[in-house]
Parts: sequence; C-alpha cells; structure tokens
Amino acid sequence: MQYDFDKEIDRQGTDSVKWDYYIDEGQQFGIVPTNKFSGPGRGLPMWVADMDFQAPQPVLDALAERARHGIFGYTVRSESYLKAVVTWMKTRKDWEIEAEWIAPSPGVVPGLNLLVQTFVQPGEKVIIQPPVYHPFYYAVENNQAELVLNPLRLDEGRYTMDFDDLATKASDPEVKMAILCHPHNPVGRVWTPEELTRFGEICLENEVLVVSDEIHGDLLYSGVEFTPFAALSEEFAQNSITGTGGSKTFNLAGLHTSNMIIPNQDLRERFEKTLLSNGLMGSNTFGLLALEMAYREGEEWLAQVLVYVEDNLRAMRNYFREHIPDIKVVEPEGTYLVWLDCRGLGLDKGGLTKLLEDKAGVYLDGGHMFGPEGEGFMRMNIACPRPILMEALERVQRAIKD
Ligand SMILES: Cc1ncc(COP(=O)(O)O)c(C=O)c1O
Repeated sequence: MQYDFDKEIDRQGTDSVKWDYYIDEGQQFGIVPTNKFSGPGRGLPMWVADMDFQAPQPVLDALAERARHGIFGYTVRSESYLKAVVTWMKTRKDWEIEAEWIAPSPGVVPGLNLLVQTFVQPGEKVIIQPPVYHPFYYAVENNQAELVLNPLRLDEGRYTMDFDDLATKASDPEVKMAILCHPHNPVGRVWTPEELTRFGEICLENEVLVVSDEIHGDLLYSGVEFTPFAALSEEFAQNSITGTGGSKTFNLAGLHTSNMIIPNQDLRERFEKTLLSNGLMGSNTFGLLALEMAYREGEEWLAQVLVYVEDNLRAMRNYFREHIPDIKVVEPEGTYLVWLDCRGLGLDKGGLTKLLEDKAGVYLDGGHMFGPEGEGFMRMNIACPRPILMEALERVQRAIKD
C-alpha cells in the first residue's frame, strides 16, 4: 500500500514526550508538561527522536486485533518472534544470528544501563565517543562507573574516529567497556567495515568489551551500506553485545521492547542474571507483537519512509544552501536526525536557543547536550510531514533575517 507521510496526525493529548512535554535542560528526567506546541502560532517540536508517522499498517492491524481480544495477561517471547528477529538480521543486514543469542531488554537505553551494571564494577571505566547520545553518559555515571571520552574528529564537515586517542585510552586497565554508536547519533556517520575493524581490534587487544548500539541501523540513506559490528568476525562477535529494536526503525519507542544480541554464552548468562535480579525477564505483550509484525511485514513501509526522509533531507539541504548558508548540514549517512553546524551564525548556545525557540518557535536539541564538542551545533529531527519541515525552515529564515 502507499502511505501518506505528508498528512499531519495530531499527537496532542497522547502524553507524547515530543508534543505534550518539553525538555527542562540539565535534568535527566527533566521533561515538563507544556502547551507550547498547540493552538495558533504553535511551536514545532523537532527534538526527541521519534517520527510523526504511524507505524506500518500490518502492525496497526495486529495491535488492534490483539486489543479487541481484551485479555492482557503475562506473555513470553514466542518462537515466531525470535525467528522474525533472526530473519530480519539475515535478510536486511546479512548477519547470521542464533535465536538463543537474543536477550530481551525493555529498550536499548535500559539495556545499556543493565550492561554497565553487569560488566563494569564501580570505579571502572567506559569509553564513549562524543558528541554522542546523552543517555550514554547517564548509563555510565548513574551506575558508578567513570567516563572516558574519545571525542570524534571533525575534518571538513566529516566526522571520523580518533584511533590513536582510542588506543591510548583503551590501554588503561581500568577501562572495561566501549560503547559504539553505529549509526552515530547525532553526527549521522555509519561506520565503515575498516573503521569498525580498527575500533574492534583496539578493544580486543585491550580486553575492552564492545557494546554496539545499532538502534538506528536500519535507517540508511541511499547507497550507504551498514555492517553490524559483530558480523565482521567471530572474535568481534564473541567480544560484543549489540543493541537492536524497533524504536527508531518502526517508530515503536513507547512499546519498550528491544533485543540485546549476545553471541558469547558467558556474557549472555551474566546479562540474563542481571535481568533476573531486576525482575526484568517479562516482556510487553504489545511490544512483542508490534516488533514481530514489523520485522515480518514492515519492509514496504520502511522502504517508503526511507525515501520520504531522504526527500526531506534533500529539501532541507537545498533550503539551507539557498536561504540560510550560515547553517550547514553535516551530511548524514543514516538516521533521521540531522546535525546542523550553526557556528556560522556566531551565536553562543543561549543565543542559538533564543533565536530558534523564542523567535522562530522551532524546538531542536542543542548540540551541547551531546558534549561540549557539540556547542554551536543543533540536532534536528526530520521524520515529520514535509509541510511541517518547510514551515520550520521558513520560520528559522525569518527569525535570522529579523
Ligand atoms: C543511539 C540511541 N540508542 C538508543 C535510543 C533509545 O532506544 P530505546 O527507545 O530502545 O531505549 C536512541 C533514541 O534516540 C538512540 O538514539
């Protein structure tokens, strides 16, 4: 079927983090109710990473039918659910996994926290690569571990890893884990097999466990190939844990269902022990059903979403070039989150927020939230109907002109 992503669906009053709440900076749980995004002159929220699109029709149908059944007792992950995950990894990513490697987690972010609890003792260290998704910082700090920062390098508009710095930092015997963001949120890189191999070898040499967050791994722009870190070699598979799910790919974040893929039996048993000790072996009835249906029948929808988001990216890139050359798009290879280099505007972070939120009524994530390396940048979510995207761009242009 043909989906109509141009159509705006009212999300107000659905307890949506994006449309009914607003971020209260500096607070991990700092969201506050707001009516900024309703009524005439409403603000446009383009920050938190969910799409303003309905999930694939087969998912909607299956959930509606299950809701009509009306009994929502305890459920388990069925064989057909696990098979759907295995098949998706094989057909979409050419990655052969076994059903028994798949450990449940109520989201990739909860999973990251549980992984730090399991594999990093208080006071030990975890490497992350800023500017990076802020919950990586929290997963480390909230679990009494120490952050080790291996900042990405930015050369001529393209981010790369600093392997010399990584090798030095990984050689600290206190470093036990490195969290890879692949594709990288917010800078949009999809790491190449060569980059992943260097990263993986440094970690292997130094006995550092790799946690590869691949939640955005299905959201790729044309011509970009995605290689799961663990698919590169048996040694990498045995020294890694991969976070996957439908939160981003199929817009199912509120259903809190994800999978940690753990080929190494010892690591898997240790992670499962943490799940048990936190009472987390159960699964969400709707989350399981939605992800299974999405993996089994959501490909057509995904193909259309990817074309739509890429057209949004093209429209945005052209708009900035023509009308706002001081804002530069850092070309993403994956994800619907676009990293905007706003340094040409010559504003500090307060000035940028004032311009975008107060004057333009466009709400983005400030780059500084991803680490000090992100200052002068903004992250914009373009998974929205094109008329909203264009309105946001026009508002920003008017605000700058004023
Ligand atoms: C890199 C990354 N990991 C994890 C998540 C959230 O995953 P989940 O909703 O499964 O916890 C996000 C959401 O934006 C993300 O960007």
